[in-house]
Amino acid sequence: MKRIFSGMQPTAHLHLGNYLGALRNWVKLQDGGDFECIYCVVDLHAITAGHDPDVLAGSTREIAAAYIAAGVDPSKTVLFAQSAVPAHVQLMWLLSSMTQMGKLSRMTQFKDKAGKNSEKAGLGLFSYPVLMAADILLYHATHVPVGEDQKQHVELTREVAGTFNHRYGAFFPLPEPLILGAATRVMSLRDGTKKMSKSDASDMSRINLTDTADQIAAKIRKAKTDPLPFPETLKDLEDRPEAANLITIYAAVGGLDVEQVLSRYAGGPFSGFKQDLADLLVEHVAPITSRMNALLAAPEEIDRILAAGAEKAQDLAAPVMDETFRRMGFWNKG
Ligand code: TYM
Repeated sequence: MKRIFSGMQPTAHLHLGNYLGALRNWVKLQDGGDFECIYCVVDLHAITAGHDPDVLAGSTREIAAAYIAAGVDPSKTVLFAQSAVPAHVQLMWLLSSMTQMGKLSRMTQFKDKAGKNSEKAGLGLFSYPVLMAADILLYHATHVPVGEDQKQHVELTREVAGTFNHRYGAFFPLPEPLILGAATRVMSLRDGTKKMSKSDASDMSRINLTDTADQIAAKIRKAKTDPLPFPETLKDLEDRPEAANLITIYAAVGGLDVEQVLSRYAGGPFSGFKQDLADLLVEHVAPITSRMNALLAAPEEIDRILAAGAEKAQDLAAPVMDETFRRMGFWNKG
């Protein structure tokens, strides 16, 4: 059986990178019928860089609402919040005994987030990929749909699973990343060399799924470009990261190839292209935003969905957790 696990952190509003790089693909995979899908709001991951206890629960509901608004169907998938299934943390501890610190210290996300002063970084930020490995392995997931930036963490998960299987007998499938679509790495609207990120200080750097039509239009109008004319060929896009990013976004949202976008706008002014891109984004994002707002108006319904999902997740996780304990020789698990 093929099984998908994926998740997003409730650290801030979801943005276009989360949507194009992951969420949109999750919905297609759910509807394709080839996979059993488990989609999680990974709230335990959200505390690694300092968080506000007054907003965490609300952000968790918001991310669940975004999943559903984008098309995740709670009746076809297992949709839940990570903290509701304690086995994620139990498995993380067991796996941490077989994860090398050297490998964790080479993780790009850790290096980016810890910055120069890694001595001061929290243990949670450092061990974050072990929790992610536990998330995936706890459900024996075979495939993990993510954006390009998470590929390294899925590779680490494979290594950890391989180590477990070697020491305690073949048990965990080695999960494969599924990096799909035209926009697997959406870049910042202010700097085409940095990825679009929830943690960027400038809100102008990203399109949030909660943005209004006016905000989206303003962000695209002000998005950085360069003084050269609109590119005509793929080669013209080299060394033009901002232009390449906007054109890739257009292609991904409009369901076109980059070449088709180039030929549509070649030689014209960027302003006309930007206007059309803003319209396209609004057309795409506005229905998601309004469904999200409707769902958030009834938070008790979201809580009911998450609670039902947590029961299903718990049932899937329990036998895997028991067998992991048993293989590792724990008391009373034989
Ligand atoms: P997170 O919350 O940062 O991002 C959620 C998803 O969005 C993708 N993504 C992007 N894709 C394209 N362009 C971008 N600029 C961009 N920014 C983010 C991410 O690749 C991800 O798929 N560690 C994960 C959460 C996690 C997880 C897991 C994922 C925890 N456990 C188990 C899969 C399986 C994270 O921080 O994603």
